[in-house]
Amino acid sequence: MAKAQPKILLGVTGSIAAYKAAELARLMLKRGWDVWVVMTSCATQYVGPLTFRALTGHPVAHGTFAEREQETYTHLGLTEGAAALVVAPCSAQTLARLAHGFADDVLGCAALALDAPLLVAPAMNARMWKNPAVQENVATLQRRGAIVVPPGKGELACGDVGEGRLSDLDAIVRAVARVLAAG
Ligand SMILES: Cc1cc2nc3c(=O)[nH]c(=O)nc-3n(C[C@H](O)[C@H](O)[C@H](O)COP(=O)(O)O)c2cc1C
Repeated sequence: MAKAQPKILLGVTGSIAAYKAAELARLMLKRGWDVWVVMTSCATQYVGPLTFRALTGHPVAHGTFAEREQETYTHLGLTEGAAALVVAPCSAQTLARLAHGFADDVLGCAALALDAPLLVAPAMNARMWKNPAVQENVATLQRRGAIVVPPGKGELACGDVGEGRLSDLDAIVRAVARVLAAG
C-alpha cells in the first residue's frame, strides 16, 4: 500500500527571499510531500499566490481571511493533519508575531492552532538579524521547541555582506525530513 504523503504547511512571509519559497515548495513536492502554502499579506507583494497554487495544486491561504469558503482553507482546517509548519523565509516581523502568539492573520492563527512541529528559516538584513529583539524572539521560539534553520552568511539582497540570507534550501528540506523521520 502506498505511504500517505505527509502534509506540510509552508508559510511564506514578506522577505525579499520570498521568491525562493517557490523552489522550496518544488523541492518538498519532489520528496512526495503534500504542500499547502500560507502567505502573509506582505508576502503576496513579493510573489503571487498563483505561483504556489500552480505548483502545489492547492488553494493558497493568505492575509487575514480565507478567499473562499473551502473547509480546508481556514487556519483550523489547514492545520488538521499537518505534519509540520515550515515558515521560510521568516521575516523579522513574523518571527516576532510567532514568538508573541499573534493571531492577526491566517499564518499566525495556523501557528497557534498547530499540533505539529514548527520550523522557521529566518531571512533578513544582517543588522536586523543581530538585533537583540530578534535574537530574543528566536530564543523564545527555540525554548518552546521550534526548530530554527539559521540564516547563512554572504552577500545580502540589500548589498550588505553578513549573516541573514535565507538558509540553503536543501538544508531546510533536510531539517523537515529529520522532523518527519522523528515522527
Ligand atoms: C524590498 C524589501 C525587502 C524586505 N526584505 C525583508 C527581509 O528579507 N526580511 C525581513 O525580515 N524583512 C524584510 N522587509 C520588511 C518586511 O517586508 C516588513 O517587515 C513586513 O512588515 C513583513 O511582514 P510579514 O512578516 O507579515 O510578511 C523588506 C522590505 C522591503 C521593502
